[in-house]
Amino acid sequence: MKNILITGGAGFIGSHLVRLLVNKYPNYNIINLDKLTYAGNLNNLKDIENKPNYKFIKADICDFDTISSVFSKYSIDSVIHLAAESHVDRSIKDPFSFAQTNVMGTLSLLQAAKHKWDNDFEGKLFYHVSTDEVYGSLGDEGFFLETTPYDPHSPYSASKASSDHFVRAFHDTYGLPTVISNCSNNYGPYQFPEKLIPLFINNICNNKALPVYGKGENVRDWLFVEDHARAIDIIFHKAKLGETYNIGGFNEWKNIDLIKVMIRTVDKFLGRDEGSSENLITYVKDRAGHDLRYAIDSSKLKDELGWEPSLQFEEGIEKTVKWYLDNEKWLENITSGDYQGYYKEYYTDM
Ligand code: NAD
Ligand code: TYD
Repeated sequence: MKNILITGGAGFIGSHLVRLLVNKYPNYNIINLDKLTYAGNLNNLKDIENKPNYKFIKADICDFDTISSVFSKYSIDSVIHLAAESHVDRSIKDPFSFAQTNVMGTLSLLQAAKHKWDNDFEGKLFYHVSTDEVYGSLGDEGFFLETTPYDPHSPYSASKASSDHFVRAFHDTYGLPTVISNCSNNYGPYQFPEKLIPLFINNICNNKALPVYGKGENVRDWLFVEDHARAIDIIFHKAKLGETYNIGGFNEWKNIDLIKVMIRTVDKFLGRDEGSSENLITYVKDRAGHDLRYAIDSSKLKDELGWEPSLQFEEGIEKTVKWYLDNEKWLENITSGDYQGYYKEYYTDM
């Protein structure tokens, strides 16, 4: 029996994790706490919302009093912390909200856990979900290891780096049982269409321009989101306390090559001539401080805990494109209203 507080469970990765744990562990109570910002969407969890071992609470992780009362009311013994502001472009326009949620929000959760667990750390765990972006940018060669020094460049990655430091500080100073994982770029169903893959699938379908930053030569290491959720499950159950694990797909793609794969896949599903939508590619001004290359070495996770990605990329992209085409309603709900304003503000001047 466990009472697990998952923060950010209505977001992209969080909803996959909540679904996995609710279905796989009927004897665990999963308490999903989420502020429901623009990125949080309870439609992501329709299939499990009535399960007896699932509870949703709308709250802000920065609200220390509410968090503390949730710890008491549900006898929380474990936290898996995903709630965050997560989009680099938004962090460039509004760094304050990233410091607030990602740094102060993490600190508020850490303090609540320390206070409520009151030095009785037996059977407790604070698991912090982070990103490979804290390590900065690679040149053409090499990989991020767990020992790579932090070198964040965007307000998003700086705020995540800071939250990681606080988690380690609580482990080293107060003995809080913590673990951190740093994952590469995720893709798959239920991702908000501000990130590269869902944004471009949506635009290709609607014959809208595909805004490629700079020359499209930046490299990302892509992992199917369900493989990330599986990794979190394994780390949650088997990790050594105080440790860090990198999670990645050994699946590097230059943006422009990835975009061409997406174009061919969408064209194929829509019965267009394969590759004909390449005329939508539009090179625009580069992102400020744009990291050139991310690549994760996840051999520690493989060697110590036995995790490996399960999906080949081509299969993952096909599954993802098919999901977005089959779930037009989900996309329509999200891309109406505020999204149009976001799109205008971020893309019209390019
Ligand atoms: P997301 O933006 O899709 O979801 C974030 C969720 O957090 C949303 O449901 C939102 O409502 C909630 N939230 C935001 N501020 C909150 C607050 N103050 N209080 C409570 N809830 C709040 O993000 P995601 O892509 O699912 O990422 C989840 C976590 O994984 C983040 O910590 C992110 O840094 C990390 N991560 C993401 C990726 C990726 O590729 N998406 C890769 C590695 C790590
Ligand atoms: P993104 O999905 O925002 O993830 P991150 O910046 O956290 O890696 O972007 C992935 C890559 O795609 C990144 O190099 C920036 C680029 N990109 C574009 O070229 N155009 C876009 O409209 C977006 C959103 C991203």
